[in-house]
Amino acid sequence: MNELAIPGLPEYAFGGDYNPEQWPESVWQEDMALMREAGVNLVTVGVFSWAKLQPTENTWSFEWLDRVLDLCHANGIKVDLATATASPPPWLGLKYPSTLAVDETGVRMAWGARQHFSPSSSVFKKFSLALVEKMVERYAEHPAVVMWHVGNEYGAHTHRCFSEESADAFRAWLITKYGDVDTLNERWGTAFWSQWYSNWDEVMPPRKTVYFPNPAQQLDFKRFSSDAMLELYKAEVEVIRQRVGRQIPITTNFMRFFPHADYWKWSENIDVISDDWYPDLADPESHIEGAMGADLMRSLGAGRPWFLMEQAPSAINWREVNPAKPKNAYRRWSLQQAAHGADGILHFQWRASVRGAEKWHSGMLPHSGTDTAVWREVSRLGQDLKKLKPLLGAKSDSQIALLLDWSSWWALELDSRPSTRLTQMEALLDYYRPLAQAGYSVDFAHPEQDLSRYKLVIAPSLYLISDLGIERIRAASAGGTNIVFGKFSGAVDAEEGVRVGGHLMGLRDVFGCYTEEWHPLVAGQTEEVLIGSNRGEVSGWTEHIRLLPGSAIEGTFSTGDLAGLPAIVSKTSEKSKAWYLGCTPNRDMIASLLEAICIQSGAAPVLYSVPQGVEVTKRSNENGSFLFLLNHTGVEQSIEIGQASVDLISAESFVGAVTVGAGEVRVLHLP
Ligand code: GAL
Repeated sequence: MNELAIPGLPEYAFGGDYNPEQWPESVWQEDMALMREAGVNLVTVGVFSWAKLQPTENTWSFEWLDRVLDLCHANGIKVDLATATASPPPWLGLKYPSTLAVDETGVRMAWGARQHFSPSSSVFKKFSLALVEKMVERYAEHPAVVMWHVGNEYGAHTHRCFSEESADAFRAWLITKYGDVDTLNERWGTAFWSQWYSNWDEVMPPRKTVYFPNPAQQLDFKRFSSDAMLELYKAEVEVIRQRVGRQIPITTNFMRFFPHADYWKWSENIDVISDDWYPDLADPESHIEGAMGADLMRSLGAGRPWFLMEQAPSAINWREVNPAKPKNAYRRWSLQQAAHGADGILHFQWRASVRGAEKWHSGMLPHSGTDTAVWREVSRLGQDLKKLKPLLGAKSDSQIALLLDWSSWWALELDSRPSTRLTQMEALLDYYRPLAQAGYSVDFAHPEQDLSRYKLVIAPSLYLISDLGIERIRAASAGGTNIVFGKFSGAVDAEEGVRVGGHLMGLRDVFGCYTEEWHPLVAGQTEEVLIGSNRGEVSGWTEHIRLLPGSAIEGTFSTGDLAGLPAIVSKTSEKSKAWYLGCTPNRDMIASLLEAICIQSGAAPVLYSVPQGVEVTKRSNENGSFLFLLNHTGVEQSIEIGQASVDLISAESFVGAVTVGAGEVRVLHLP
């Protein structure tokens, strides 16, 4: 039996958020009929239903939800049941203002939108857990419910709170971490600017200050805020697990590269990793981010199948301009998520709302009804996904990992840096893009995990590395894994203190070099690097690198203040090789460098000689291997796959070469 993300749903999952409380009950029957027509087999119910379930502090109303779940069950549609805690009702905020989040200036948030709760509010916790108790009591055994959905997009709107209660919780978190205030003083460097604390009461969240707040305080507050939300999530999970058995998984939906929650830590507590993806249609490279985010989700679940929990069938409503999705994009990007390990494709939302802030957000069932392009595309996808059943649970095999650590990301993007123009996302994309374009399967990994199974580990920019991270990287390198570090890496310890004695401390012998001084470039400034006889351009960042014994110069600055000094250094050790890139190479330069590095590392792409703009991924399980060919170009492409295959969706058979229409996708079964 293949590994199923949801044991109660042995099919490829397809569906979306279903918010029947926005409609008269007379519409529900039609919903069911149309869901069946579109191939929907899973709906997420109740995400924003708290006010309808508990209209006042002492009244409850579950009968309508009983009828919805029974109706779903009668129609063979499974339910991912939300705990309904994502948007507290107005009465809670009115009577208990301490449940409302407070911003850094002391302003308390009002109800009237959603997710306005303070993650550290004990009153909010009490009321939300009481609701979860009721939900679980009533629906633990409901035959339609195959998964529980805790909260919704934790941190999307409120990711931190500066209230008195949050300050207390932050202090408690710091006491657990540091034990005594002297240790905190030392780790935060409070000898600086007279910030020294004589007792815990003086320690605050980084509220509005006149100038840069202490960076270690800011970093710890980000960690605390992620943990505070995670504690809430875990408290709900605990209530659910008191009655609900392990065969029913629990999830909460992530937001890809979301900057406010440490998803490595979160994912340890989530049975089915699920994710929401709303590509920016103005970005011509959305498909690169589409692949990268999906790879992150697969990696967060250690390779387990994950779900695309939300996407829009067409337009969204929250960017400046919200176009309809371009032709074929909805289908191709959906299947792209399957190509990277998703065993469920769901949407926000089933039926487009007619009132409220999201009425101009597309739904699977548009305002204009079923005689629409969106409906036809949605139903076509729903029918086609049924045919992917054989690939459920299929895994990918990546030989390359990119390192991502939220603490390092947070520290990199604080104020008071050598350059505030560096972003973690840009650094990741700089390295992910050429690897994806060359057809490599890429995992994401945390620097503190065992990295030794990879042939190549790349840290595009790992500004902060803990002692354990250093140990893991050293161990992987000693064991035969090749390592690449990009700019501005290895600069600070876990609490953002500089590791003195030349940057890359702890890893200097691995790379055969260290950085004496950072040389960020100003906007518009570019410099040149010579690699052999090739010239490449760098922008944004350069470094004054010093060589250590045993190293080799791979690239040299040929212009600017650093002309004649190394830009890229490598060192070959007994079992592996390591490269340090002290610059931001332009696209061509990084692509050719990585190509050479992959070859030297023995990493192989999924397929050789794939036309540009065609993405290829592979998943395998006991039914065989499945090759996804995604044509992101506007013309038909032919790809030589070197063996016989059958398209799972169209049932066409191929002997060697396979054609893929413009913007189309094939899912080939290789028996
Ligand atoms: C998500 C959210 C959904 C809906 C959607 C609109 O962030 O979870 O409830 O608001 O965005 O794109």
